[in-house]
Amino acid sequence: MPKLIVRSALWNGVAVALIVSLVACSNAPEDAPAAQATVAPVVTATLALQATAAPQATSTSAPEPTAVPAPLPTVPILPAVVAATPTTVPTNPEAERLSAIGLELLTDLTADYSPRESGTDGELAAAEFIGRYLEDMGYVVEFQPVEVEYIPWSEEFVSLIGDGRPDLRAVPMAMSGLGDVTAPLVSVGKAFEEDIPDEGLDGVIALIERGQITFEEKVNRVANAGAVAAIIYNNERGNFRGALQSDGPIPAASLSLEEGEDVLQLLEDETELEARVTIEMSLLNSQNVIAELDGQSTECGVVVMGGHYDSVADTQAAGDNGTGRCLASRDGEELAEAHSEDESLPYALRFIFFGVEEIGLYGSRHYVDNLSEQEHGEIIAMLNFDAMGKGEAAVVGSDDLVDRAINYADGNGITLNRSNEPAGFGSDHASFLNADIPALFFFGDDFSIINSPDDVLEEVEPSIMGANMVVGLGMLEEFECKPQG
Ligand SMILES: *[C@@H]1O[C@H](CO)[C@@H](O)[C@H](O)[C@H]1NC(C)=O
Ligand SMILES: *[C@@H]1O[C@H](CO)[C@@H](O)[C@H](O)[C@H]1NC(C)=O
Ligand SMILES: *[C@@H]1O[C@H](CO)[C@@H](O)[C@H](O)[C@H]1NC(C)=O
Repeated sequence: MPKLIVRSALWNGVAVALIVSLVACSNAPEDAPAAQATVAPVVTATLALQATAAPQATSTSAPEPTAVPAPLPTVPILPAVVAATPTTVPTNPEAERLSAIGLELLTDLTADYSPRESGTDGELAAAEFIGRYLEDMGYVVEFQPVEVEYIPWSEEFVSLIGDGRPDLRAVPMAMSGLGDVTAPLVSVGKAFEEDIPDEGLDGVIALIERGQITFEEKVNRVANAGAVAAIIYNNERGNFRGALQSDGPIPAASLSLEEGEDVLQLLEDETELEARVTIEMSLLNSQNVIAELDGQSTECGVVVMGGHYDSVADTQAAGDNGTGRCLASRDGEELAEAHSEDESLPYALRFIFFGVEEIGLYGSRHYVDNLSEQEHGEIIAMLNFDAMGKGEAAVVGSDDLVDRAINYADGNGITLNRSNEPAGFGSDHASFLNADIPALFFFGDDFSIINSPDDVLEEVEPSIMGANMVVGLGMLEEFECKPQG
């Protein structure tokens, strides 16, 4: 699905540009405008956005129309957001400065773009680039391995045996059983008790119509009758992604109504029609990149700034190039020294670049799951940056953090929207919220761009980055010591 990867790559490109600008440039000494003084000098932020993970967008019962209309199970689905009139105009000079830097970096990042998927060598290369970059800046960098088992997207979850068959764009059900089976197809209506033939369904693939009873009931019934896989076709146009309520006994996938009818038609002419259903797990090896200055004390807690980096392609050359500009007048060591000597922040700052965003919030979830009780308790807040390409700068997350962000923006001439989305909307901060860690997500509230993967750079509104960066950095000054012990 190259189109989708490109789409997601853009967003990540914005994120990485942000991260890099913040790490590299936020400390801007001599040449910084006056507003710089009000911004914590130790700054770095990372940005990224992750759309609501598709796996949650599922339904467990047949009758209700389900979630995801597009048959793209592994790709994050963003909610439709009305394209607002462009756009945030930063009236704050620091926001303007950061916007310009961010756009410049993004231009470089996307110049030579070739998308890389989660868990691939490309992702690893990006992680290594980010890691090296941060090390050059004087940060201590840890690569935290993240292993993810998932069902990779494939156009071939279900195929018909024989020449000249139509391609089917099946979608595996959430919690589907796993397997690779080839067997005759048998149509069993909606899979009510009376739909099961007397001779049972031994060794066949059941073709089932959606509706009236839950997917779970349908699949369990045909499995109990001996079926080796279940294919459920929609009862309205288009495909859907269904979910079983517990681990399915057999592979189960969905088809659109149109494709279901095609298969039924073929079955009428050809009762021996066979199909193949393949739903198998792949193991992905990814990593989170975690960076801190050496010797930071966590006695007053830790603020995490995060974003994801995966699917950002060949960032190395572009990033090196782009960031080089930021660093032209000062080298990384000097910066790091400046950071260490800075005493304006009582707590420790930790930057985390999460992997494997494309297929869910695995990187951030793994990070949170792996925290010890003490590490968990240390975290004052998590600020997440992502999807800042278009619309108006917006925040969503813990109430207290949203209030702080809006107040800071109001006090500094920055337009920042309080999003109506649920607190856990859309990105890696959700993993922290789920673990009762206060978290805030900075983004751009117009997602319409994801429907036009072309002209991506032209679509990017750098003011969003600038506004979000300034507010994020400003908030750092206001967090207080959270005594540990
Ligand atoms: C940065 O990239 C531009 C064009 O892509 C190239 O001309 C320039 O030499 C590069 N600069 C460095 C320092 O690599
Ligand atoms: C975190 O992961 C490391 C490495 O896998 C493991 O040794 C450690 O026990 C984990 N800690 C927690 C709290 O899960
Ligand atoms: C953002 O704020 C502007 C100005 O108040 C408003 O017009 C717009 O509808 C808001 N957008 C969202 C998504 O809330």
